[in-house]
Amino acid sequence: MSTVIAIDGPAAAGKGTLSRKIAETYGFHHLDTGLTYRATAKALLDAGLPLDDEAVAEKVAREVDLGGLDRDVLSRHEIGEAASKIAVMSPVRKALVEAQRAFSQRSPGTVLDGRDIGTVVCPDALVKLYVTASPEVRARRRYDEVVGRGGSADYAAIFQDVKARDARDMGRADSPLRPADDAHLLDTSEMSIEAAFQAAKSIIDAALSRNASK
Ligand code: DC
Repeated sequence: MSTVIAIDGPAAAGKGTLSRKIAETYGFHHLDTGLTYRATAKALLDAGLPLDDEAVAEKVAREVDLGGLDRDVLSRHEIGEAASKIAVMSPVRKALVEAQRAFSQRSPGTVLDGRDIGTVVCPDALVKLYVTASPEVRARRRYDEVVGRGGSADYAAIFQDVKARDARDMGRADSPLRPADDAHLLDTSEMSIEAAFQAAKSIIDAALSRNASK
C-alpha cells in the first residue's frame, strides 16, 4: 500500500513549495491537484468551449492527462480564474478526484496538494497537513513572486484576489476548503519555507515511525 501525504490550504499559502520539498525528501510522487482543475479550464478555453456547461466540462476533465501538466503554462491568472469556476461543478470534481485517487496509489508513496485532499480525495492519508497563512502574508508573497520574476504587480489588487479566491474555495457546496478533523495545522505567516518544512518533516517522521512499529 502506498503512503499518502495530504496537503491542503488556501491559495498562495506555500503548499506547492512545501509539497515538492517533501516529495523530494521522501522519494514520493507529487501531484499538485490544482493543476488538474487548471488543465481542464485551459482545455475548455483553448477549444473555445463554454465554462458554464457541466456536461462539456466533465467530458474535458475525463481527458486530462496527469502526466502532461505544465506548471508554467497553467499558472496564468486567467486560467486560475476559469479553474475556480469549473471547480464548483460536482461532475468535474468527481472525474478529477477519480484520477487523483488513482495517482495517490503509486508506490512507494505520494504527496497530493490541493483543497480537499484530506477531506475527500484521500481521507485515509497517513499524514494530513493544513497549510495556511494570513491573507496579507499570502498576498505579499504572491506580489514578491511576480516582482521577483521581473513583472509588475499591484498589491491591493492581489490582496482582493486572494480574498475572493478564499471566499469561492471555502464557500462552495461541494468539497469546500476546510481542515480535516485529523489534520495538523501549519500557519506559515511567521515562518520561512525552511522552518515550515522542518515542522512538516517532524510530523511526517513521527507518523512514519508509528506506522512502521504497527
Ligand atoms: O491551487 P490552484 O490555484 O492551482 O487551484 C486552482 C483552482 O482549483 C482553485 O480555485 C481551487 C481549485 N481546486 C480545488 O477545487 N480542489 C483542489 N483539490 C485543488 C484546486
